[in-house]
Amino acid sequence: MDNYDKLIQSAMVEVDSSTSLDQLENIRIKYFGKNGIINQELKLISKLSDEEKRLKGTELNKFKSSFFTAVEIKKSQLKAFQINKKLSEESVDISLPARETEFTESKLHPITFTINEIISILGSMGLTYEEGPDVEDDFHNFTALNIPKNHPARQMHDTFYLGEKDEGIVLRTHTSPVQIRCLRDKKIPLGVFAPGRTYRCDSDITHTPMFHQVEGLVVDKEISFANLKWFLEKFCKTFFNNDDLVLRFRPSYFPFTEPSAEVDINCRIESGKVHLGQGDQWMEILGCGMVHPNVFKMSGVKEKNLKGFAFGMGIERLAMLKYGMPDLRNFFESDLRWLKHYGFSFFETSDLSWR
Ligand code: PHE
Repeated sequence: MDNYDKLIQSAMVEVDSSTSLDQLENIRIKYFGKNGIINQELKLISKLSDEEKRLKGTELNKFKSSFFTAVEIKKSQLKAFQINKKLSEESVDISLPARETEFTESKLHPITFTINEIISILGSMGLTYEEGPDVEDDFHNFTALNIPKNHPARQMHDTFYLGEKDEGIVLRTHTSPVQIRCLRDKKIPLGVFAPGRTYRCDSDITHTPMFHQVEGLVVDKEISFANLKWFLEKFCKTFFNNDDLVLRFRPSYFPFTEPSAEVDINCRIESGKVHLGQGDQWMEILGCGMVHPNVFKMSGVKEKNLKGFAFGMGIERLAMLKYGMPDLRNFFESDLRWLKHYGFSFFETSDLSWR
């Protein structure tokens, strides 16, 4: 009994005077570890009489509970001490001036800026904005546009097929399939435009596998080629900010328009620089024509005697001509130096006005 009191006392002193969590853990092991003092004591218990066993058991339990209570109290004291020590030793100097970082202004990609300009102009001319899917089916991309299977125009499109060719799922080769979707879903009279990504399996200085087009479609009872000419002239002069621009409508062929034309604008090319609206050279900028009757039929339009015009333009080409960018491939190389040079400030707004 006497022994126990001493043991408890010295254990308590040890716990109380420990100065670290490690030391505390060692004390715990010394008394209650596998080979600790208490386990040794327990081994001796079996040799005692029942009465002594009971007494010793009670003593040991008392010891155990006061020991661990003391350990827990000490543990939280040591932890609090550690935190306070850390807080008093570490300091943050809030009077330090902020470190200066180099400020790089974000830029809008020329394609984004140009699309926004196109949206502003065509939207102001009364057309509504439409979108179609990049992944199209054969029907919308070709058949409904009067390009049936085995039509030579299909070869010209360098189509990306998703899956097997005969499954007929493609990346749209132009924005013209949006014409079909609008004719099917919307009421006539109709005036829509649809900018977006297009894809052709082609890559060189003037072609990238992905590029952008904007489609336009106007349909009513009385729409003429003269309307188309007026419309495109107004668009081009406004877009290029140039009253002197001359448009040349050159007869061409698209299966989904009849008659069809390609439109050139006049320019003078001097030491590699293109001056628009001057000189007697021509730069092709778009394809257009009067909607082919088969397109109305294939889109399920019931009304008779409808007329319409449609056009499609390459957006990169428009941007390159307007902002003097020489190489198409740079558009998609993600070179920040190019973007810094040709990109547009977010605060920059177009200075377009009607022409
Ligand atoms: N879809 C044609 C092309 O990609 C352009 C076009 C659109 C021509 C609408 C006529 C009418 O070349």
